Amino acid sequence: MHSFRYIQNRLHCESTDLESLAQKHGTPLYVYSKETITSHFTRLDGALNEVDHLICYAVKANSNLAVLHTIAKLGGGFDIVSGGELFRVLKAGGSASKCTFAGVGKTRGEIEFALHEGIYSFNAESESELRHLNQIAGDLGKKAPVALRVNPNVDAGTHAKITTGKKENKFGVEFERVIDAYAAVAQDCPHLEIRGVQMHIGSQLTSIDPFVQAVQKVAPLVEQLKEKHQLQFFSIGGGIGIVYRESLDSGDPSWWGDKPESDRPLTIGAYASALVPLLAPLKLRILLEPGRFMVGNAGALLTKVLHLKQGGAKKFVIVDAGMNDLIRPTLYEGWHQIAPLNKPATNTLEKVDVVGPICETGDFLAQDRELPPVHEGDTLAVLSAGAYGFTMASNYNTRPMPAEILVDGTKAHVVRERQTLDDLIRGEHIPSD
Ligand code: LLP
Repeated sequence: MHSFRYIQNRLHCESTDLESLAQKHGTPLYVYSKETITSHFTRLDGALNEVDHLICYAVKANSNLAVLHTIAKLGGGFDIVSGGELFRVLKAGGSASKCTFAGVGKTRGEIEFALHEGIYSFNAESESELRHLNQIAGDLGKKAPVALRVNPNVDAGTHAKITTGKKENKFGVEFERVIDAYAAVAQDCPHLEIRGVQMHIGSQLTSIDPFVQAVQKVAPLVEQLKEKHQLQFFSIGGGIGIVYRESLDSGDPSWWGDKPESDRPLTIGAYASALVPLLAPLKLRILLEPGRFMVGNAGALLTKVLHLKQGGAKKFVIVDAGMNDLIRPTLYEGWHQIAPLNKPATNTLEKVDVVGPICETGDFLAQDRELPPVHEGDTLAVLSAGAYGFTMASNYNTRPMPAEILVDGTKAHVVRERQTLDDLIRGEHIPSD
């Protein structure tokens, strides 16, 4: 489901005309739909109502305070990976008691901060980290709540750079060692309190099978550990894939019915009906850590066409957003739909590369893409850019980060101002000669 569609031939986010936003706030510009985020949260929440559960939104997907605030108000928790993300959650009105803290390399400062704020669980990724947590909690006279991330050695069938649940990945503790690791915690770590078990096998999964395989493999282990260590929760991680090819003419979520298998979303109905029966018998609190599912389709990056250029072998559409604004196409071969804000009158298509202004050959938003004719000065929407878009943006080539807008019906709130040139050099100093 998403809230971007043509109304009277002009692309809108909810009831807001995107061209007017581009004109008012400039480009590149990230625009998010509050309606989409809310609908995704409530649909997932509803699909899981047969089990005690908590949706811990993966902050790394989109950490804008307004997005976090929206999710906190819906009752969501958060999965964080740094002290910085915890700081954001607290500023947005979220509570540490609904946060899990993931990541293979947490620092002492981050651990102390999270302990002080009353984090729900540190999801530890190694025996060494457990010892480190035990030491720090002891120093502070506290008990650190922990879960161990299990690496189930299941292939998520996704892009290599976002596969996390295989033996050769750096994540989690090897399946075969998990029982011993929990026993060691119980025996040797008086400053740790075991709370749960966690796993996360990868991102942008478009099939239910790897999820089922992983849950089937890990659930018996959880059952065993539950008895011994009074577990409270089992987190099955995030990873729910989204559709990157959207229909802009219909808000009807069933439009994908005639699409090839690879383009079909992993529907929430299918996800819940396959997993809930496997999870319910555990009688534990089930945690989920969706990032992309919650915000991916909720965002678009608006960019202006600066030039058209015929190269020796290709035609280039040069736009004002680059790989520093949206790195997914070049980093993961990520495919983002690109649509003109004014609906084209013809069905004619032309094959082009949509490229940015960065001085790198890898600076593209799309390659060999069939687009309707575009003209200099047109504004294009790069869709499904709500997840891992702005959060992965950088100042490379000393380019200010785009502004971010949260649309709510006809209202458009600036939820992050565009960076200024002064912002770019803040904190830098020239030593005196
Ligand atoms: N939980 C853990 C422990 C994770 O590492 C991640 C994502 C998630 C949850 C959320 O996964 P999601 O539901 O969003 O798939 N930048 C890449 C994706 C990196 C994902 C990293 N971990 C991209 O743009 O495709």
